[in-house]
Amino acid sequence: MSKQPVVAVAGATGAVGREMLSILEQRSFPASKVIPMASARSAGTTVPFAGGDLTVTELTEDSFKGVDLALFSAGGGTSEKFAPFAAQSGCVVVDNSSAWRMDDRCPLVVPEVNPDDLDWHDGIIANPNCSTIQMVVALKPLHDAASIKRVVVSTYQAVSGSGQKAITELETQVRKMFNMEDPEASVYPHRIAFNCLPQIDVFLDNDYTKEEMKMVNETVKIMGDHNIKVTATTVRVPVFYGHSESVNIEFENKLTAKEARVILTQAPGITVLDNPKEGIYPMPINSAGEDETFVGRIREDETIDNGLNLWIVSDNIRKGAALNTVQIAETLLERDLLRVEDPNVFF
Ligand code: A2P
Repeated sequence: MSKQPVVAVAGATGAVGREMLSILEQRSFPASKVIPMASARSAGTTVPFAGGDLTVTELTEDSFKGVDLALFSAGGGTSEKFAPFAAQSGCVVVDNSSAWRMDDRCPLVVPEVNPDDLDWHDGIIANPNCSTIQMVVALKPLHDAASIKRVVVSTYQAVSGSGQKAITELETQVRKMFNMEDPEASVYPHRIAFNCLPQIDVFLDNDYTKEEMKMVNETVKIMGDHNIKVTATTVRVPVFYGHSESVNIEFENKLTAKEARVILTQAPGITVLDNPKEGIYPMPINSAGEDETFVGRIREDETIDNGLNLWIVSDNIRKGAALNTVQIAETLLERDLLRVEDPNVFF
């Protein structure tokens, strides 16, 4: 594409949508125009962009005429309904919801891991789940070195992953508890302040949550290797920004902690913080607002032949959502893939 694209942000008033706008600005994304979209509730309000304000328009089936690229973060239902209309108008969608992730017509992409999957897009590209993204950024270079057989992951996920309402809920609950009041829980099934909830999203028939099965299925699709087995326990914790993960990996071949440290230090998108005796390891308070995936506590699992334990932390709103979406858009531009070959694939 020779001219700069017209870019829409669908869900621009939400936590991720606002971050998308700020990342487009920070990275000087080459857009000829940026159009924020949200529900009818927000039409006419403004969102900050590039030192000024942009007026929010209502997202409708007709919103995409003349739009080249749409970054969606407006919930699964909204995306399921509107993304096909965008693709039919010739607009490429990068969608942050779970609506299209496991659809065989849609690549599921983390640019550091599987950028080549963008070659076969048909107009809708899915951005993976936040906890999956940061994990696969670290898994990929280790898999290339020693072939991963099995991953056991437990997550400690921030409330911002559930959107603006959950950020407000944690703030309100903490304030009320300091005033000796009994806070209500509305976003989550139980109080999140000073608590941990071993439930993210709904429970499925196999007693895992939907979030846990996202980590299982999305990891295999992104890594492109059905031999990798993943099992997950996902937990919501009272942290505003930054997901943490304890990851146990079993490999086909031996990889020492020292070798893994060298590989991860050289891997794209990763910063190794691993000097535990000096108190240096990744933490959500340091990852918030940063682009990298931080890896530390790298150590050999002494209970199996070829195993490692890692602690992985990243800003779930940036690398886990808005940044990865913008990086996908940048890769589409670099590879001249910002076009829809067959506009009716999703109808
Ligand atoms: P709105 O603010 O008008 O409700 P978050 O994940 O932080 O809660 O944000 C969700 C985003 O998705 C918001 O920008 C919200 O807009 C938008 N959104 C929710 N439902 C719709 C819809 N039916 N059509 C368009 N945008 C929607």
